Amino acid sequence: MRLVVLLLVAGLCDLASAQRRDPFFWLMALRSRGYGHGTLRADTVGGKCPAECDCPPSFPVAMYCDHRGLREVPYVPSRIKYLYLQGNQIAGIRDGAFDNSTRLVWLMLHQNQLDLNRIGQKVFAKLTDLDRLYLDHNNLTGVPANLPRSLRELRMNNNIISGVQATSFEGMSNLTILHLHDNALREVGGALRGLASLTVLDLSNNQLKKVPEGLPDTLQQLYIESNSIAAVPGDFLGRFPRLRYVRLSHNELTDRGVPPHTFNASGLVELDLSFNKLEKIPQVSSSLEHLYLQANRIKEFSVGSFCGAVDVGSFSRLKVLRLGGNEIGPEDIPGDAALCLRVASTIEV
Ligand SMILES: *[C@@H]1O[C@H](CO)[C@@H](O)[C@H](O)[C@H]1NC(C)=O
Ligand SMILES: *[C@@H]1O[C@H](CO)[C@@H](O)[C@H](O)[C@H]1NC(C)=O
Ligand SMILES: *[C@@H]1O[C@H](CO)[C@@H](O)[C@H](O)[C@H]1NC(C)=O
Ligand SMILES: *[C@@H]1O[C@H](CO)[C@@H](O)[C@H](O)[C@H]1NC(C)=O
Repeated sequence: MRLVVLLLVAGLCDLASAQRRDPFFWLMALRSRGYGHGTLRADTVGGKCPAECDCPPSFPVAMYCDHRGLREVPYVPSRIKYLYLQGNQIAGIRDGAFDNSTRLVWLMLHQNQLDLNRIGQKVFAKLTDLDRLYLDHNNLTGVPANLPRSLRELRMNNNIISGVQATSFEGMSNLTILHLHDNALREVGGALRGLASLTVLDLSNNQLKKVPEGLPDTLQQLYIESNSIAAVPGDFLGRFPRLRYVRLSHNELTDRGVPPHTFNASGLVELDLSFNKLEKIPQVSSSLEHLYLQANRIKEFSVGSFCGAVDVGSFSRLKVLRLGGNEIGPEDIPGDAALCLRVASTIEV
C-alpha cells in the first residue's frame, strides 16, 4: 500500500511539473495512463512513460511519441519494444539515447529532419534485437554508421542519400526488405552483395546510370524504375533465379541496350518496361504474366517475342499486355497472336 501511495505522489509531482509546460498535459496523461493501478504498474516496470508520449496500459511494450513536435528522442523505458517517433522534428540523436532500450524491436523515426552529421556513431549499437528501422522521409545524406545487424526491414527512402559505403550493410544477414528509393544514388557498388536474405530491393527514383552490379541472388522483387539506365546486360536477370517482379520503367532503355534474350528469364511474373525508348517488343519468357510496354517507340507487334514456336502445347502465360502510347494500333496485331496469347485478358494497344 505504501508503495502505491508513493507511486501516486510521484505521478502527481511529475504531472504538476509537466502541466507547467503544457496546459493540455492532463488530457494526454489521462489517455496514456488510464485510471486504476494496473496501469500504474505497467508504467513503472522498467521506467515511467515520458510526459510527451503515450504508453497504452493495454500494450505496455509500446510507446507512442509520434507527431508531437519533438526535437529530441525522449527517455525510453527499458521495457519498450515498439517505439513510434515519426512525424516530429528530430534532427539529431546523441550517443546513448537508446542505450537503456535494448529490447527495441521496431523503431519508427520516419518523417523527421534527421541529419547524418548529428547522429552519434553508436546510437544504434546496443539494439541487438531491432527488426524494423524506418528512417525514411528525413534529411539523411548517407547511411548512418553501425546499424544493427539484426534488421529485417530497413527503410531509408525519401532522403538525399548520394552514396553508400561498402560497410554500410555489413553482416545484415537477415535483411529482407530494403527501401532506398527517392534518393540521389548514382551507384551502390558492392555494398549490397552480402545481404544473403534480401528479397525486396527498391532503388527507384535515383540517379543510377547502370543496373547495379553485385546484388544478392536472393532477390524476388527489383525496382529500379525512374533512373537513367540505358542498358541491361544480357545475362543480368539470369543472375537472380528467384526474381519475380522487375520494374524498369522511366529509364533510357533502347533496343541497342537490351541484347535479344535479356528479358527471357523464366520465373519472371511481372516486367515493367514502360516509358523507355524501345522500338521492338523484347523476347520474354512464356511464364511472364504481366508485361508493361506503354509509352515506348514500338512499331511492330511481333508474336515471336512471346512464343518461340506456336503450337498446342507451347503458349504464352501473359495475362496483361500494355502497349498504349506506341507507334502501333489494333490493326497491327497479327492473326496468330490469338493462339500464342491465348490466356491474355487485357491487351492494350
Ligand atoms: C539509462 O539508465 C540510467 C540508469 O537508470 C540512467 O542514469 C540514464 O539516464 C538512462 N539513459 C537514458 C538515455 O535514458
Ligand atoms: C530538411 O529538409 C526539409 C525539406 O527539404 C527542409 O525544409 C528542412 O529545413 C531540412 N531540415 C534540416 C534540419 O536541415
Ligand atoms: C537472424 O535471425 C536468426 C533467427 O531469428 C537469429 O538467430 C540470428 O542471430 C539473426 N542474425 C543476426 C545477424 O542478427
Ligand atoms: C526463351 O528461352 C527459352 C529457353 O532458353 C526458349 O525455349 C524460348 O524459345 C525463348 N523464348 C523466346 C520468346 O525467345
